[in-house]
Amino acid sequence: TTRILTGITTTGTPHLGNYAGAIRPAIVASRDPQMDSFYFLADYHALIKCDDPARIQRSRLEIAATWLALGLDTDKATFYRQSDIPEIPELCWLLTCVAGKGLLNRAHAYKASVDKNVEQGEDPDAGVTMGLFSYPVLMAADILMFNAQKVPVGRDQIQHVEMARDIGQRFNHLFGKGKDLFVLPEVVIEEEVATLPGLDGRKMSKSYDNTIPLFGSAKQLKEAVARIVTDSRLPGEPKDAEGSHLFTLYQAFASHAQQAEFRVELEGGLAWGEAKNRLYQLLEDTLGEARERYNALIARPADLEDILLAGAAKARKIATPFLGELREAVGLRSFR
Ligand code: TYM
Repeated sequence: TTRILTGITTTGTPHLGNYAGAIRPAIVASRDPQMDSFYFLADYHALIKCDDPARIQRSRLEIAATWLALGLDTDKATFYRQSDIPEIPELCWLLTCVAGKGLLNRAHAYKASVDKNVEQGEDPDAGVTMGLFSYPVLMAADILMFNAQKVPVGRDQIQHVEMARDIGQRFNHLFGKGKDLFVLPEVVIEEEVATLPGLDGRKMSKSYDNTIPLFGSAKQLKEAVARIVTDSRLPGEPKDAEGSHLFTLYQAFASHAQQAEFRVELEGGLAWGEAKNRLYQLLEDTLGEARERYNALIARPADLEDILLAGAAKARKIATPFLGELREAVGLRSFR
């Protein structure tokens, strides 16, 4: 079997980009008997970007309910919170001690903040915490802890998975004594949706405030779709399907036949207003039932707690003995 692992940071409400880029392919993979899947809430990562405890707590609940509402089978997959696995921050430290500062200097997430500071004439390190700087090391610990072979993510996370490989390789080299302690992970990208655009055409992202929430009400979904930016071509004028992110969004959720039909209609001059109705309808058909399950789940947080604790216990059956081996490998063994 192949071990597959991915996580979502619990700082906001799950959006269509998280679904198409990460959750949907992950759930499909979890149904494959050849796959052994590990999915988790990256709630330690959330602390890097957010100091609002209520928001973190709410987001953890929402993201947990989202996975389950969309059909994750927790008998097949191991589903847990990062913060329930104390072995992860401990491994993070072992990795921190081998991760090159030069490597981390190149991480996009941290560099973006520095570049912005420089642009605004501020101290380059203003607001940059050590958490942000070492973000990729914690992510490497998530992945290497479970020896994941495949990591399905959106394009923005590729660099982090590559860093996990680098760090794992270095650790193997230093402490493996010829044998590999860590499996080196490979990234899996769903090509068609590697970057789902948001309302304004840029990558759909919490930080751009351009998201379409997965499980807002039908009314909220309709309002969000209405805010998608389109060009100024009038009804009757042919539209450029390929050049429109409304079409890209449609493609991510439609069958091939539906896509072909929509393209013909757009090129034949379908009005943008009508095009938005089509997209709304498609999304409602795709998500309507799951939304009902989501609302039922979110109303029962104690049940979610039980599910997540059971997932953590399953994960720790692997993490605890493996961390023991790693501690020995670096020279932290019992004197007995
Ligand atoms: P996060 O929470 O930013 O995003 C979760 C997943 O959703 C994908 N994604 C998108 N995919 C397509 N189009 C978009 N517009 C879009 N927006 C987000 C992201 O690529 C990601 O796959 N650091 C990670 C969480 C993490 C993790 C890990 C992932 C922590 N440890 C270990 C994999 C393995 C993050 O912040 O993702």
